[in-house]
Amino acid sequence: MAAATAPMLSAGEATKSLQATFNNRCRTCHSIRPDDHRLGPSLHGIVGRKAGQSAFPAYSEAMRTSGIVWDAQILDRFIEDPEAVVPGNNMQPYPGITDPGERKAIVEYLVSLGEE
Ligand code: HEC
Repeated sequence: MAAATAPMLSAGEATKSLQATFNNRCRTCHSIRPDDHRLGPSLHGIVGRKAGQSAFPAYSEAMRTSGIVWDAQILDRFIEDPEAVVPGNNMQPYPGITDPGERKAIVEYLVSLGEE
C-alpha cells in the first residue's frame, strides 16, 4: 500500500504516485479523457461501466459480450491476467501485473477518476 511505504506523502502527492503507476503501465494504450480512444478505449468513468460499451471502434467480440460491469475487484483481476477474466480479449501486448501493490495503485487511481 502506498501509504505504508510512504507515510509522509500528502494526499496530492499520493494521487500523483498512483497516476504515475497508471502512466507507466497503461497510458501507452489508454487515455483517461472522455471519448479519447487510442490503441485501447478511453478509461474515463470505467468504474461502474459495462465492459465493451464505449464508442471505441475496435472491441473484441469477447469484450463486448462479456457482461462484466467493471468494479475495483474485477479490474484488479483483469490487469493481473486479462485472459483469465475475458478469454479471447484483444488487450495485447500486455504482460499482466503480478505485484498486488502496483495493481492496487492503478485500481485506486481509476476509482478516484470516477469521483471527479
Ligand atoms: C498494449 C495496449 C494496452 C495496454 C498496455 C493496456 N491496455 Fe487495456 N485495453 C487495450 C485494448 C486494445 C482493449 C480492448 C480489448 C478488447 O476489446 O478485447 C483494452 C481494454 C481495457 C479495458 C476494458 C475497457 C472497456 O471499455 O470495457 C480495461 C478496463 C482496460 N483495458 C484497462 C487497462 C489498464 C488498467 C491497463 C494498465 C494496467 C491497461 N488496460 C493496459 C489495450 C491496452
